[in-house]
Amino acid sequence: SIKAFIFDLDGVIVDTAIYHYQAWRRLANELGFDISEEFNEQLKGVSRMESLDIILAHGGLTLPDEKKAELAAQKNQWYLELVSRMTSEDILPGVANFFSQVRKANLLTALGSVSKNAPLILERIGMTEAFYAIIDGTKITKGKPDPEVFTKGAAELEVAPAECVVFEDAVAGVEAGKRGGMFVVGLGSPEVLTQADFVAPSLNALTVDEVLERFSK
Ligand code: G6P
Ligand code: MG
Repeated sequence: SIKAFIFDLDGVIVDTAIYHYQAWRRLANELGFDISEEFNEQLKGVSRMESLDIILAHGGLTLPDEKKAELAAQKNQWYLELVSRMTSEDILPGVANFFSQVRKANLLTALGSVSKNAPLILERIGMTEAFYAIIDGTKITKGKPDPEVFTKGAAELEVAPAECVVFEDAVAGVEAGKRGGMFVVGLGSPEVLTQADFVAPSLNALTVDEVLERFSK
């Protein structure tokens, strides 16, 4: 039976996906090219340095490591400027209600994000206490689509992967959850999140009971 829910952060709990995109787009523009929203789908859930590599390849640029470190730090600085203004008002619609149902159902909760800024964002929105375990980009060696971030979460909660449901908005994140042996609810478009067990537009469109029913055998 299902014992735990593991949540991605960006695009699931808060809409920081848009801030990542804005900061990356600003960087690409400074380098002389542009990135579209459609292109951005492949960056979701992908680590900072891997995202930069994908963007540079898109712009046809090859740069030395020191320059890349500089660009990644610049992007992060712009990103932090955007997220520093966040408050609990920025929690996505339906999240607070969904979490109160999660508590009533006595489910365990973990955060599984490859973002190194995840703890900072949880503090800003006042949701640090909503998670029994927090796995972020500082605790993993491999980003999504590698399952490490989710399997570490399950291990900290002391539950088996098959007892976990992952909530993800990213193609790479859905793949990570499936590779980890977990049930995966995709949040977004079914045409994009094709590997998910099922897809809903957002947590606002779901109830905990509905999710549990889907995965109870
Ligand atoms: C999340 C986001 C990605 C981001 C990654 C690293 O997975 O979906 O867009 O690149 O975290 O975030 P960081 O805050 O460490 O740069
Ligand atoms: Mg995400």
